[in-house]
Amino acid sequence: MKAAPFASPDTAAMRRCMGRFTTGVAVVTAVDASGEPQGMTINSLTSISVDPCVLLVSLTVGTRTSNALDAAGRFAVSILGVRQEAVARRFATRGGARFDGVDHELTDSGIPVIQDALVHADCRVEQTADIGDHRIYFGEVDCLRDRAGTGLAFHGGRFGEFRDLGSAEIPWWY
Ligand SMILES: Cc1cc2nc3c(=O)[nH]c(=O)nc-3n(C[C@H](O)[C@H](O)[C@H](O)COP(=O)(O)O)c2cc1C
Repeated sequence: MKAAPFASPDTAAMRRCMGRFTTGVAVVTAVDASGEPQGMTINSLTSISVDPCVLLVSLTVGTRTSNALDAAGRFAVSILGVRQEAVARRFATRGGARFDGVDHELTDSGIPVIQDALVHADCRVEQTADIGDHRIYFGEVDCLRDRAGTGLAFHGGRFGEFRDLGSAEIPWWY
């Protein structure tokens, strides 16, 4: 098939192209200056370093959640399992009390995390960088735990599930 011609990106093209990059789905949470829990669905979660353990999340500046990360200097990440699409949708919908009716528990540092998520990480904001309309938070991981299960995936604006192609496992598993 003939490739499409290169074109200067606009918002729609950027969304469409990056939507072809399949990701997992997580909820980033923090406690704001008035002690209220805040959180939003993200797919910008990236592992940056394993020694020390550092991850990044990229949040729209001015959202309740990014304001809470700024105030607290800490955040938690819950990587969602395939049965948690409803949680992903709820934490991506603007407004409302997102934690009402959502099973959650607290990390040792008091940040709410989504119950039954595959991974919980409790992080300290180590650095930030502003780029475009987003602020990148580099979080050094203080505590981490996981459980077995299939992750919720996101592709082209839809939620789905990873399918194993059955080939050999990558040997270096960094
Ligand atoms: C699968 C998925 C991934 C998302 N990833 C991000 C992200 O990485 N960063 C971000 O700022 N918003 C992301 N969003 C959008 C936010 O979840 C959404 O705008 C949310 O309502 C913002 O919270 P607010 O109500 O505090 O503004 C994502 C939404 C979905 C459905």
